[in-house]
Amino acid sequence: MEIKAIAGDITQVESPAIIVNLFEGVEAPGGATGAADRALGGAISNLIADGEIRGKKGEITIIHTLGRIPAARVVVAGLGKAESFTPEAARRVTAAVCRRLRSAGVRRAATIVHGAGIGGLDVRDAAQAVAEGGLLGLYTFRRYFSKNEDADRTLDELSVVEQDASRLADIESGLERGRIFAEAAMLARNMVNEPPNHMTPTHIADIAAGLASEHALESTILDSPQMEELGMGGLLGVAKGSVEPPKFIVLTYKGDPDNPDNNLGLLGKGITMDTGGISLKTSAAMFSMKSDMSGAAAVVSAIGAIAQLKPRLNVTAIAACTENMPSGSAQKPGDVLRTMSGKTVEVENTDAEGRLALSDALAYARQMGITRLVDVATLTGAIVTALGDVCIGAFTNNDELLDSVIAAGEACGERIWELPMYEEYKEQNRSQVADVKNTGGARAGSITAAQFLAEFSEDTPWVHLDIAGTAMTDRESGYQVRGATGVPTRTLIRLAEDLAAQG
Ligand code: BES
Ligand code: MN
Ligand code: ZN
Repeated sequence: MEIKAIAGDITQVESPAIIVNLFEGVEAPGGATGAADRALGGAISNLIADGEIRGKKGEITIIHTLGRIPAARVVVAGLGKAESFTPEAARRVTAAVCRRLRSAGVRRAATIVHGAGIGGLDVRDAAQAVAEGGLLGLYTFRRYFSKNEDADRTLDELSVVEQDASRLADIESGLERGRIFAEAAMLARNMVNEPPNHMTPTHIADIAAGLASEHALESTILDSPQMEELGMGGLLGVAKGSVEPPKFIVLTYKGDPDNPDNNLGLLGKGITMDTGGISLKTSAAMFSMKSDMSGAAAVVSAIGAIAQLKPRLNVTAIAACTENMPSGSAQKPGDVLRTMSGKTVEVENTDAEGRLALSDALAYARQMGITRLVDVATLTGAIVTALGDVCIGAFTNNDELLDSVIAAGEACGERIWELPMYEEYKEQNRSQVADVKNTGGARAGSITAAQFLAEFSEDTPWVHLDIAGTAMTDRESGYQVRGATGVPTRTLIRLAEDLAAQG
């Protein structure tokens, strides 16, 4: 969908549909909604008086204008209470309206910027939300259907109409930011939705190399002999069972080259298929495990967007990519690995492979001189049990960095909840034969996984995001559609901007 900003009176726009809105409790609509109401001889206020339009969140009313104004339809979108309106609400309402128009066969529409009036949002933020919501809400992944029926049924143009021409520049900049954020999240969704026979470590490396040349990122892509040389026994232990070559991907954006310590490392788990390895999963548990590279997809996609937004900060994205397969050459329960950090790990369960791959990513990032680490991983089934698909689980050794991550998530509508890191949990990872064991038993599985990672982040400020519950969704809601969510790509982009602004 193409999105553009135009100045003018939306009631004079010739379009199959114009989109206005109504806050809950408003009986006499003002602004663009009021103008549309007058042009329609009071149709909207009559529906309000009748109780059909109440302005509730999620309420969408389509009025056919029958030639009274140049537009064929007026869509009234309910926004809920004005006091509690947020950019997230603007994203959701835009997504829902765009999808409704698509299913009605409408190909072009014009909208006002929701929330920039009595909603009290900054105009640029509101415009960004409209672009993000529209693009993300209309997302589909249909490339493997031999008949692509959606192709000729899509909303392909959205004009954002603003009466006050002095606000046009802010709207344009917001729309452009929204496009960059949404396209990054959609790249992550595409990568995760791709089947595991296509989205191999090599394919992720190709996408990373493409982004590097498109956006002038520095890139290093290590293959297994190079990983061998660096002593990456964790990632290589997981890769042993697979015929697909593993890839260790490093992309760097230099936004503050004179201050190399002003940096951020974004680390992603990139298991392109997690069968469990020799500790084999059940068929049912295995089916969705193409999504086990969602962390890698998020960090790679985010740095592509960061390179376009150009914050004053150096950012490195690292994706540790391999399959986790069972075979005659696969690692075995009981194996002891020597990781890049020098620490040894006893592999109690080959299905706890993400933390092995990430242990080397953390060591590599620290050796590079990264001063702030954020890792993203579909790490544990236990986080799904604890938090469901409502929020991301977070763990840290540094409250200040976590506060920044949570705030960035809040701004993006990606919720993050902290879990504790009490020392006592470390005992569950104790091994009889090596420095640490890769599983901590049945209790507090997400926390013991995080405590394992903490062995490798050591004293570097670090946040771990467990996205096992949030990477995929099985229902359509707001701007999310079934399949990959693209979480937390937008949060990572926003985090880079926020840290840059903090200086
Ligand atoms: N990739 C899985 C975690 C997962 C579960 C992601 C459900 C998405 C949805 C991870 O590698 C895994 O298998 N974890 C094990 C760890 C256990 C063996 C200690 C788990 O959670 O069962
Ligand atoms: Mn696993
Ligand atoms: Zn996994």
